[in-house]
Amino acid sequence: MRNLYFTLSAIIIIIVGCRPGEDYSFKPGARWPDNNEVHINAHGGGIIYHDGKYYWFGQHMVEGEKGNSAWVGVHCYSSGDLYQWKDEGIALRVEEEIASEITAGCLLERPKVIFNRNTEKFVMWFHLERKDLGYKDARSGVAVSDRITGPYTYVRSERPDKGNWPVNVGEFHKANEFAGQEIQFTGGDDLPVYCDSLNILGRDHNDGQMARDMNFFVDDDGKAYHVYASEENSTLHISLLSEDYLSHSGKYTRAFICRYMEAPVIFKRDGKYYFIGSGCTGWHPNAARYAVADSIFGPWTEMGNPCTGPDSALTFHSQSTCVLKVAGKEDAFIFMADRWTPENAIDGRYIWLPVIFDGDRINLKWFDEWDLGLFDQLRFRTQ
Ligand code: GAL
Repeated sequence: MRNLYFTLSAIIIIIVGCRPGEDYSFKPGARWPDNNEVHINAHGGGIIYHDGKYYWFGQHMVEGEKGNSAWVGVHCYSSGDLYQWKDEGIALRVEEEIASEITAGCLLERPKVIFNRNTEKFVMWFHLERKDLGYKDARSGVAVSDRITGPYTYVRSERPDKGNWPVNVGEFHKANEFAGQEIQFTGGDDLPVYCDSLNILGRDHNDGQMARDMNFFVDDDGKAYHVYASEENSTLHISLLSEDYLSHSGKYTRAFICRYMEAPVIFKRDGKYYFIGSGCTGWHPNAARYAVADSIFGPWTEMGNPCTGPDSALTFHSQSTCVLKVAGKEDAFIFMADRWTPENAIDGRYIWLPVIFDGDRINLKWFDEWDLGLFDQLRFRTQ
């Protein structure tokens, strides 16, 4: 009788406690079904926490190689617990008109949404390459909405910081002798370490700075910063946005000069700023890098590769896209990265790992499966 009682209780707990398909752990690199059992389609994404819920925005990819271009737009998902995600639909749709800057087939990458407390608007920025220009265009697009899930209205695109010099400009940049000159590097092994002497900054001063891989960081004082791969991907710029977050204020700095960093992420912990990024090898993974600073405008101190263990030289076959602070949990940050599959873009996988701190050093190590309880164990171990 007792056995029967236990068996029945166990069955009831299983039936009531777990609805089919629900899973309360992260499995980096596995298929991640949404509420409709469809693999989440939000690549190069970012997550924002608002009014008790998380919202994940990312590139909607389609099948096959052409899937890396934008044929649909920016997809949004919501979640209360970070494990189960509800499809909220397309937050920003590409447009049908050929003349539109975001016409179907453009490249619309790494979308990020930030919330402006003063205007109460949600502002979405993304890397935009207008159609058929390859990666030459290097622009930043912006869209806005009153509702977090959209629809977002496209505002415009631009090359940031046109006509402004960074706070750490050198006198030789201002001489601007290379203005208008065609200088291009694509990345790979052939990256000129002397790149600063080519003065790409000066070349682009009048037309605006190139902006490819990018991210945003909103500081505790409400100031928002755009970090973007500029100067033919050789150097990052960190640029203060205007108060309404819809344009650039004109104040910016150059960081990691000639270090060819992509996939930038900035976050803050205990008053210190952290940067995580990648090298510059397109869809192919390379070793991540991280850096710390006391001020977002630097100086930044490079600390090497945060990943440890097998495949750490390839960031576990992925590339950074966001670091998310878990709401209501002390010292809990999640590193989010993309495992790209450019031959069938829609199948790209998500690598989420806990950020483990030792003082201001970061350790990203592989877990086949983990959950948020891990942060409590980690804290307990370091106390
Ligand atoms: C990566 C970049 C991606 C995408 C890709 C194209 O380095 O992080 O966002 O632009 O190159 O090759």
